[in-house]
Amino acid sequence: MIVAIDGPSGTGKSSTSRAVAAKLGLSYLDTGAQYRAVTWWMLRNGVDVNDPLAVADCAGKPVIVSGTDPAAPAISVDGEDVTGPIRTQEVTAAVSAVSAVPEVRTRMVEVQRAAAAAAGAGIVVEGRDIGTTVFPRATVKIFLTASAEARAARRSGELGGTQSVAVTQAALAKRDAADSGRTTSPLAKADDAIEVDTTDLTLEQVVERVVNLVEEKR
Ligand code: C5P
Repeated sequence: MIVAIDGPSGTGKSSTSRAVAAKLGLSYLDTGAQYRAVTWWMLRNGVDVNDPLAVADCAGKPVIVSGTDPAAPAISVDGEDVTGPIRTQEVTAAVSAVSAVPEVRTRMVEVQRAAAAAAGAGIVVEGRDIGTTVFPRATVKIFLTASAEARAARRSGELGGTQSVAVTQAALAKRDAADSGRTTSPLAKADDAIEVDTTDLTLEQVVERVVNLVEEKR
């Protein structure tokens, strides 16, 4: 059982995916955290993240280990816990460039497929290309969307109001454009994915809808 949950930033992917996994007794994998962890490693090691060749050269070096417990999804790089550090604005600003490098994606997709193979009852996997590329035969594919305003308001709230909604909205638009416009497995809705617009829904409503869709397929 693989539940693929894709969509742009700020649509509630992580909260929804974790709650759905917890409710259904499934494992959980945050692939965005993995791309952030690779980016964190590149920055830590002085690799120029805007040089695709330099990033490609190092793509196989960081050893990423993702926890799959939806209650506490920790992630480490080379044995160092980076669950907190991967959320800095420095990493957020650099992640789209790093994740556009094909060698990075090839490596991460291997890690993601291995995690799913090791998950007992099944797994909820969230990202941008899960339904299109990583698990094209996923049991259920969900594509979450929300208005640009709603997404920016949520993300600004998560940052504790340290960044205005307008600045957040501009940063999200830039990251979405990069993620959707890249050549290798861009952010896209799979043809057979079910789109859920979360703009006017509470988290509980979104979770209920996704759980029902999964139950129908079980
Ligand atoms: O989900 P999150 O916002 O943490 O993802 C961070 C970045 O990782 C995205 O903006 C995107 O560049 C990249 N990503 C990706 N493919 C995925 C998941 C995330 O390219 N499956």
